[in-house]
Amino acid sequence: MKKEEAEVVMRSIETLRSVRSFKPDSIPKETLDRILRAASMAASGSNTQPWEFVVVQDRDVKARLKEPMWKKWLERIGGGTGMSQRMKETYDEATEMLRNSEKVPALVYCCLDLNRIGRGEEVRYASIYPAVQNLMLAAHAFGLGTCLTIHGSTPTRGEPEVKKILGIPENIKIACLVYMGYPSRRYGRPRRRQIEDRVRYEKWDPVA
Ligand SMILES: Cc1cc2nc3c(=O)[nH]c(=O)nc-3n(C[C@H](O)[C@H](O)[C@H](O)COP(=O)(O)O)c2cc1C
Repeated sequence: MKKEEAEVVMRSIETLRSVRSFKPDSIPKETLDRILRAASMAASGSNTQPWEFVVVQDRDVKARLKEPMWKKWLERIGGGTGMSQRMKETYDEATEMLRNSEKVPALVYCCLDLNRIGRGEEVRYASIYPAVQNLMLAAHAFGLGTCLTIHGSTPTRGEPEVKKILGIPENIKIACLVYMGYPSRRYGRPRRRQIEDRVRYEKWDPVA
């Protein structure tokens, strides 16, 4: 890879944010196809490629899917006590995005075919999240915003109801749900802790 190309890749990684507020514009099919193909280029245990994606763009279906996920979210978030102001803002934005799910251009359920992957939980999830990250980075490259969530990914987050609405068979596990659309505002760079404090070389140094 040439130096200029490396810079483009690095900039994409360094500016990827969780976007929770979207324009209503739909996503062209060719763009979605490229993004999903990028997802499928990811690594997976023994190259099993156990992923399955369900892309939902129909407003009525999105509204039906929202119901169980919203109900479970409200049960979980409680009063949000003990949160920092920043955390509270993130939770408020997350709540708004979920409440407006039917208005988000695409809901992408990222699933695992349990018949195509080993039994170990670590292998299962490690074989889908690289594909999800590829999907988000590819979307970012096309000017789209994404937000990874785990709505609909467990019984306590509405998975059985979501699977029923979408007709997803027993052997398919929802791993996560990615919201996708064109951002309605500009986002700054992600805020992250300094990595130098979190990296040790050769052995664990307690004072690092
Ligand atoms: C496992 C996981 C679950 C998440 N769940 C949600 C969620 O339910 N709702 C939401 O809006 N964002 C969710 N996010 C996004 C995080 O809130 C986000 O990555 C984090 O706040 C950093 O945001 P930034 O990349 O814009 O800096 C989730 C991310 C991960 C990795």
